[in-house]
Amino acid sequence: MNIIITGFMGTGKSAVGRRLAKKLRMEYLDTDDLIEERDGSKICHIFEEKGESYFRRLEAAIVREVSHLDNYVISTGGGVVLRDENIKALKRNGLIICLAANSETILKRTTGIQDRPLLNEPDPVRKIEELLRMRQPYYGKADFSVQTSNLAVEEVTRRIQEFLRKKDEGCSCRPGRA
Ligand code: S3P
Repeated sequence: MNIIITGFMGTGKSAVGRRLAKKLRMEYLDTDDLIEERDGSKICHIFEEKGESYFRRLEAAIVREVSHLDNYVISTGGGVVLRDENIKALKRNGLIICLAANSETILKRTTGIQDRPLLNEPDPVRKIEELLRMRQPYYGKADFSVQTSNLAVEEVTRRIQEFLRKKDEGCSCRPGRA
């Protein structure tokens, strides 16, 4: 089984994913890192030079590949949920955990970092709110969500572990929130 960490930009996917992998003694990978490795360029350059739809195709190809792995914690880019085929592939052998945060927190965590082409806008707050609204139903397909705005990485990780433990014990956990 894999554990997939998704959610909007700036919700802590990489930090939480790395920590969770260490705690659970699982392997760790980040689909954005694989995309950059495969294309030989940074994500912001891929967006700039080849466009978002090229990026999404590459992302879907990487998702198909990693969904065949086992015992991995996989952090994804925040837009991975937009394609149904990605969700289906990742769910086949994995649980999807979605990290959430409010727009203020997202802005704070992403300001000054230049590698988020979608937020390279004159009014990033408006863009964040627009994307959050649009993506809400997609993030809602996750098996479990954690609101991270006021939580440290350790606490987010602990809540995910608790969810996994309960699931393992066979409690009838429906899609949940923490
Ligand atoms: C994206 C999020 C980014 C990266 C790309 C597109 C998105 O990853 O995949 O810039 O559509 O939300 P992070 O969520 O890790 O920043």
